[in-house]
Amino acid sequence: MDTVVVKGPNDPGVAEGVARALGARVADVYTKRFPDNELYIRLDKAVAGADIVVVVDTLYPKQDAGWIRLLFMVDAARRLSGGAPVIGVVPYLAYSRQDKVFLEGEPVSIEVLLRALRGAGLDALYTIDVHSPASLAAFRGHAVNIHVADILARSAAESLANPVVLAPDKGAVHRARIAAEAIGTDYDYFVKKRDRYTGEITMEPRATGLGGRDVLIIDDIISTGGTIALAAQHAKRLGARRVVAACSHPLLVGGARDKMTRAGVERLYAANTIPYEPDQWLIRVDVSTRIAEAIRSHGW
Ligand code: R5P
Repeated sequence: MDTVVVKGPNDPGVAEGVARALGARVADVYTKRFPDNELYIRLDKAVAGADIVVVVDTLYPKQDAGWIRLLFMVDAARRLSGGAPVIGVVPYLAYSRQDKVFLEGEPVSIEVLLRALRGAGLDALYTIDVHSPASLAAFRGHAVNIHVADILARSAAESLANPVVLAPDKGAVHRARIAAEAIGTDYDYFVKKRDRYTGEITMEPRATGLGGRDVLIIDDIISTGGTIALAAQHAKRLGARRVVAACSHPLLVGGARDKMTRAGVERLYAANTIPYEPDQWLIRVDVSTRIAEAIRSHGW
């Protein structure tokens, strides 16, 4: 089976790992902008005649341009391969948070985009820790939501003593449970409320038993850092000894990092679902092997 992995321009560092694990060849994408700023893409000739094409690209930063590029790559892969199955690996699926009409007059953005992806010719979609797994039903093909909370927790646990895992929101408790089970400990959650008009968040610090323990706060996306910072402050007030955080998608917009460090977050363990520069505070956790396992287990 000749599998070709197309390494998109915004690959967050998983394409090579996925290709290695699948025994696949890697193909590049040439992109340019026309004078009027429209996007042009062309796939490497290595895709021609492949049995399976895996298109890897992520959708942050520049979410809007990323979506257009992804649609074009899928269409090009289908055409150049001569009709081979096309699998998308999209570690961060931008617009997944708008998965319902919260206020009258809004679109369901993720549904629109998933329908477009299927229309472009994508047969299967692999993404990581999508905000709402149920939203993937809008993709009328094979869609897989890959969990990485266990990988993140094991990585964080190396530096923690007597840890407890905390979800900053009741809706995120399943992730905390997976993380806690992976490192053989317990978990709890706070209750978060967000004002749909102002975006302001409030939190009820209901968890108990944090006193004297190392707290690992785990969430899917960290955008402004407000959620994690607030949870960290409450955890500290409840007596946590140390606080670290983990997330699948470290968008870290604006002053997110400062906000979290000021709130006492000592480290952030983040999956490589988007491109970023790791350092001593921001620890990069590679999840490419988990992606390859998910693809292989389907028998592609
Ligand atoms: C929201 O429901 C998500 O799970 C995250 O908690 C949220 O996106 C984090 O955003 P921020 O970092 O801006 O608080």
